[in-house]
Amino acid sequence: QWTTSSIVDDSVEAVRAQVGEGRAICALSGGVDSAVAGALVHRAIGDRLTCVFVDHGLLRAGERTQVERDFVAATGVRLVTVDAADRFLSALAGVTDPEEKRKIIGREFIRVFEQAARDLQAEAGESGEHFDYLVQGTLYPDVVESGGGTGAANIKSHHNVGGLPDDLKFDLVEPLRALFKDEVRRVGLELGLPETIVHRQPFPGPGLGIRIIGEVTAHNLEILRAADSIAREELTAAGLDRDIWQCPVVLLADVRSVGVQGDGRTYGHPVVLRPVSSEDAMTADWTRLPYDVLERISTRITNEVSEVNRVVLDVTSKPPGTIEWE
Ligand code: XMP
Repeated sequence: QWTTSSIVDDSVEAVRAQVGEGRAICALSGGVDSAVAGALVHRAIGDRLTCVFVDHGLLRAGERTQVERDFVAATGVRLVTVDAADRFLSALAGVTDPEEKRKIIGREFIRVFEQAARDLQAEAGESGEHFDYLVQGTLYPDVVESGGGTGAANIKSHHNVGGLPDDLKFDLVEPLRALFKDEVRRVGLELGLPETIVHRQPFPGPGLGIRIIGEVTAHNLEILRAADSIAREELTAAGLDRDIWQCPVVLLADVRSVGVQGDGRTYGHPVVLRPVSSEDAMTADWTRLPYDVLERISTRITNEVSEVNRVVLDVTSKPPGTIEWE
């Protein structure tokens, strides 16, 4: 019988066999896969695992707390947070091209992670220790996909902790390599992770950086974060989280339209709601959200976020549209 607890036991044994008395680093993204991989490896080797969380400043409201407070409370893991928001913002200044944004964010991520890994190595070195292992939340479909080569996954450049320099080579620990997403979620629950982490909807590595059409500035991030958090609140309140795959909120920072509020003319930005239904993100359909939920989201965003005077709905399936706008 292939139960969740036997998957956990077997994986813990396998990690112990692989890592032995060694040390491991795990980059947390806030997503399900890295959280479950980290929790599993922590169960296996305890404090010989250190998790690193890079805050690139492109996260949604509350996500950093979810990692720093909720994940740590549930696991007791050793966590190092790197505050890198300013660095990412400087690197992104003036950039509007989607692929360029993705490349910059990926590159900066590697650099920041590399520095964090070096700092940890230096610290461990003082007691004659060394980090030899890097934990990754690779799932079975990722394994198949990267063996399969082309396809929709390669339409946009994705970022991951690959591309580290030679003197920082780690052996990979991939405890989820044989699992599908639903099994990973069950393993996460079995390990005591909160529902908010285990059932989190997908969120792209480059974060809000690819949900701002136009330049990624601190001000634009603030606007998008506020609008996004209202949309998420209302979708959750309506009990729709498990019905939709994800609902990106996109700020059209390069677009302005005329509106009216009270007696005054406004000239603000639109945000787009992009609710989608999907099995695996390779194809998707736009979700027919109830009109009353759409209305609440729209009313609240235009009332509460002064820079936004229009809320529009994306009714495109994938293909031809991708889920994210960049
Ligand atoms: P697209 O926009 O290609 O997105 O239809 C498909 C799924 O992938 C997510 N996505 C990413 N996830 N790093 C990630 O970890 C990325 O660079 C990235 N880009 C897109 C997207 O949110 C959707 O679930």
